[in-house]
Amino acid sequence: MKTNYIRIFDTTLRDGEQAPGFSMNIEEKVRLAVQLEKLGVDVIEAGFPAASPDDFTAVQTIAKTLQKTEVCGLARAMKTDIETTWQAIKDAKKPRIHTFIGTSPLHMEFKLKKTKTQILEMTKNAVTLAKSLCDRVDFSPEDAGRSDKKFLVEVIETAISAGADVINIPDTVGYNQPEEFAGLISYLIKNVKNSNDAIFSTHCHNDLGLATANSLAGVLAGARQIECTINGAGERAGNAALEEVIMNIKTRPDFFQDFEHGINTQELFATSSLLTTLTGQKVQANKSIVGRNAFAHESGIHQHGMLANRETYEIMTPESVGVKETEIVLGKHSGRAALQSHLERLGYSLEKDEINEVFLRFKSLADKKKDITDRDLDVLVSGEKSEKNNVWKLEKYSVSSGTDEMAKAKVFLKNTQTDEVVSCEKTGDGMVDAAYQCIDEILGKHGVLTHFGIDSVTDGIDAQAIVSLRIEMDNGKTFSGKCGDTDIVKAAIEAYIFAVEGVMKD
Ligand code: KIV
Ligand code: ZN
Repeated sequence: MKTNYIRIFDTTLRDGEQAPGFSMNIEEKVRLAVQLEKLGVDVIEAGFPAASPDDFTAVQTIAKTLQKTEVCGLARAMKTDIETTWQAIKDAKKPRIHTFIGTSPLHMEFKLKKTKTQILEMTKNAVTLAKSLCDRVDFSPEDAGRSDKKFLVEVIETAISAGADVINIPDTVGYNQPEEFAGLISYLIKNVKNSNDAIFSTHCHNDLGLATANSLAGVLAGARQIECTINGAGERAGNAALEEVIMNIKTRPDFFQDFEHGINTQELFATSSLLTTLTGQKVQANKSIVGRNAFAHESGIHQHGMLANRETYEIMTPESVGVKETEIVLGKHSGRAALQSHLERLGYSLEKDEINEVFLRFKSLADKKKDITDRDLDVLVSGEKSEKNNVWKLEKYSVSSGTDEMAKAKVFLKNTQTDEVVSCEKTGDGMVDAAYQCIDEILGKHGVLTHFGIDSVTDGIDAQAIVSLRIEMDNGKTFSGKCGDTDIVKAAIEAYIFAVEGVMKD
């Protein structure tokens, strides 16, 4: 590997997915992983296999699907975690294990209740085991940003001697300042005796808004891998945003001289939009690189300058990050061929029966909405994929409510295996609650709604909304559902059916 090559380690599916509102089902995770491969990231941290059976299956499926990208699983510095992680990733073309342990006084004393000697021992055992299973091993001293530097040197020397080939330095709580973080990286590279045998990596959180600045400072100080996420998703205020670190490196070659990376920047916008579609989590309008206003020039003075010479107010072109106008606008007169070619342009390759289903949904949406955008199509395709294996489908429903009357719902569900249609009528605490009671009665299950969110994913009065929800059953297991439609009540009912289907398949 060239010395100035910056490896991009994407952790959207692990640190990003840990954030509230960002959970995805297995199909959604695989779709994002495939897009990340197209974007050109070097490593995808696909999840935390020991955390749950669903995480395990998602990581395993991604490991079997990707062709050229390294697929990594996260593991605590524990035998069972590392062995489970290996089982999940072993079929990847390029598997990688990332193991970590807390090294700051706070983490050692209060979280782990371990002495320094025990931490060193656990580091050695974990990395040795990981290396005996897998050729590629990352090691992270968690909360490195608040750890004692001399102790960090000892831990890192131990990890490298045991076989770690990447040492990732997390500023776990986003506490470091850029100069301080750069200082830490240079100190470690200088003082760790075997530092030449490993690549140093950054993992910066954004609690003080410095994640991108700290990652870049780390690179200038000698790190050659950046752990980051699409749209900066991640625990609390998130992680360093992939699109930001990459466009800094690309736009300022005077600072990042001769640095190379494998990212196809023209895929940045598509990847950011896909994450928004899959999770319903929008990026703020003024977000760098991928926000709706990132390339909008509203004021007259700016527009005048732009017309004279784009560079007056533009340091990078929208095209360089893949923001482009839709050439073909789909509407109610568009045919199946136009839809199919549009979907292919968006990166979907659907089977014939899937295209037929999406086409039916497309026609019904086009009756309600004048112009169908790329985002609308994403929602249509996600809906089709989620519903595909479901036994129960919404046949029709009616709801009524008012200030002086109880909310009522009548729901008709069709069993797609028997074609039987079953109906139920209920009153409730609002129309959605009444509809959910009908579904509970028909399907004979009852969970407690622990999350219910509505996001509008496209613009205008005829926008499609995505409803995402989670239910918890008596045994503590949770199931999620998500659906998009221009009709919010319909989206809410279909998302709930999807979650209850999960309960029935469990
Ligand atoms: O923030 C952190 O310290 C982490 C580690 C697991 C790398 O996410
Ligand atoms: Zn993190």
